[in-house]
Formats: sequence, structure tokens, C-alpha cells
Amino acid sequence: MPVPAPVYNPPFNVTRASHSVVTVADLAKSRAFYVDLLGFIVSDEDKDTIYLRGVAEACHHSLVLKRAKAEPESERVGMRVFTDEDLEKAKAFFDRSQLPAQWVEVPHQGRTLHVSDPLGSPIEFCATMDVKPRLIVEFTHHHGAIPQRIDHFQLLVPDVRKACEFWMSLGFRLSEYIAPDGKDEMLFVFLQRKGNPHDIVFAPGKGPRLHHAAFSIPASYQLFYVCDLAVGMGFAVNVEFGPGRHGPGHALFVYLRDPDGHRIELFDTHYQCMDIENEPVRWDLSHAAMRRWQLPARLQWYLEASRFAGVEPRDPPHKGDPMTLEKFVAAGIR
Ligand SMILES: [Fe+2]
Repeated sequence: MPVPAPVYNPPFNVTRASHSVVTVADLAKSRAFYVDLLGFIVSDEDKDTIYLRGVAEACHHSLVLKRAKAEPESERVGMRVFTDEDLEKAKAFFDRSQLPAQWVEVPHQGRTLHVSDPLGSPIEFCATMDVKPRLIVEFTHHHGAIPQRIDHFQLLVPDVRKACEFWMSLGFRLSEYIAPDGKDEMLFVFLQRKGNPHDIVFAPGKGPRLHHAAFSIPASYQLFYVCDLAVGMGFAVNVEFGPGRHGPGHALFVYLRDPDGHRIELFDTHYQCMDIENEPVRWDLSHAAMRRWQLPARLQWYLEASRFAGVEPRDPPHKGDPMTLEKFVAAGIR
């Protein structure tokens, strides 16, 4: 089966991944992790919510922490559309597609539309937010990993192909994908709107669940510095995977788990891909696994993810068999 065809004139104009909304058990503990350790900027906070942004962001928030009323979970992932007219077009599109879509009021955001994709992933579209100072050259505000901006989300889903087809119908372009050697099956798909390799990534697994939100940092040094800081600040066990080098996307990365288990990726840089002749890059699974110098991820990196509020995750039809750190060590692979 060929990869889905790109849609150059989509039904509405999504511009980028925008924000992640998660609930947390202890706001003070989460603040210590995200602000004191990682270096996020606090845009606003009250007794129930902390709104965070990176130093390169002039939007009000790219990460929202809410006090959990029950088990911590992900409420939604946020995407930007270009104009309010695109929001109207999005509402009409989801209505036509008989998918959930409703207008909601969200603090610090313009008109906001809550939708669900065909896999049940809860998405929030808005065109505008309150504006905050961009602190990119205000160096006294820079500390920790110096998160610059949100870049992408990764979701686990039971049907990667279905997710890929739907999001490509919204104008998302496939930058890279991983497929089993000699087969057409899509295992990982990397989809983008903003002209770098990812805005949303779908990977196989029980879902939909949020695997991680990713933020860029200024240089690879901060990946190591933040790990050192994590040890000094009592967050050593929160460093889950890396630092290492990705195959798809090519970035240097580290993954950390926050105090509630929500996963954050920090990475150094991405390449540009927007020209019409850019074809999706296919990675054979064996090649993707070989293109690394770090040890493989622990099994938990593949299996564990944040549940979405009110969404019952479903198992994929086939269980995956990834190369994990546990298998790697057990096999004595050199
Ligand atoms: Fe990522």
C-alpha cells in the first residue's frame, strides 16, 4: 500500500503544534521540575494552574499544568490554526466528518475549538493567545535546559495508518516514516505543518495516549547540563532515555518523566523541510535501529504514556516487538 498522498489545499490551515495541557498531583513538585530544573518561564499561575512557555515564545503558553482532581492525565494537545476563519472551517470540517467538535472558552486563548480525531485523540485548535514578552535575548531569564519553544507531540495509537491518513487529509505532510523491512506497514509516522520534520508523530501502541511533548533547547550542551542538574536537584530517576541521537529527525535528545510520569523530550535542532519536491523519507526498521550510538530505550519508553481524559485506550491488533534495553542487555549484543 503506497504512502497517503499529500493534500496541498487542506480544508483549513493548521500552522503548528501549540500547547500541551496535563494534570498533575502536586503543583509545587511539578513547578520544581518544570521551572526550577528545566527552566520553563511562568506566564501566569494561580492555586490550580501554571501556564508555562519557552524563552523563544511570545505566546502565553505552550505547556499548561492543572491541579489533578483524580489520576494525573493529559487533557488535550493544542494546535494552532492561522486565522479565526480557519477555526470556522475546522468546525465545518469536523461536523461534515461527523467527528466531535465544540466551541469552548479557554483562559488566555482566543476562540477555541475542541475536537476528536477518528482515533479519539482530544485536540484543541485556536488561532490566537494572549501575548507575552519573547525572552530570547533576556539572558537573565535563561536557566536549566533553557526550553526555547514547543515543537511536536508524539501519540501512541492502535492504528498508525488510520491516524496518518486522517492527519494528512488535514494538510499535514509526511516527512519521515519507519516501516518493517520489505513491508508497507507504517510503524512510526512523522507529520508536519510548520516546515520542520514533526508537529505530530504517531507510534504504535495502546492508545490514543500522549507519549511526549517535545521542546527545543539552544544547544546540545543543555541536554547534558540538565541531566547533571537533575542529579543535584533530586530528579535523577526522572531522566528516562538519552542523551542520544535520533535516526528520523536526526536530533540529539533526552527524555525525562515529570513527577506524575508525563514525558517531556528536549532536543537540540531540526532541519527544514517544506519544498514540494521533498518526498517522505522511508526508514527500514533495521536501518533505524542501527543508526544510533546510544543504548536502546527501556521497555517503559515504548509502553508507558499519559492517558487522555475521558478516553479509553485500545490495544493495537498486533503486539510490537521493539529492541529494548532489557533485550539488548539480555542478548549480550555488541
Ligand atoms: Fe519526539
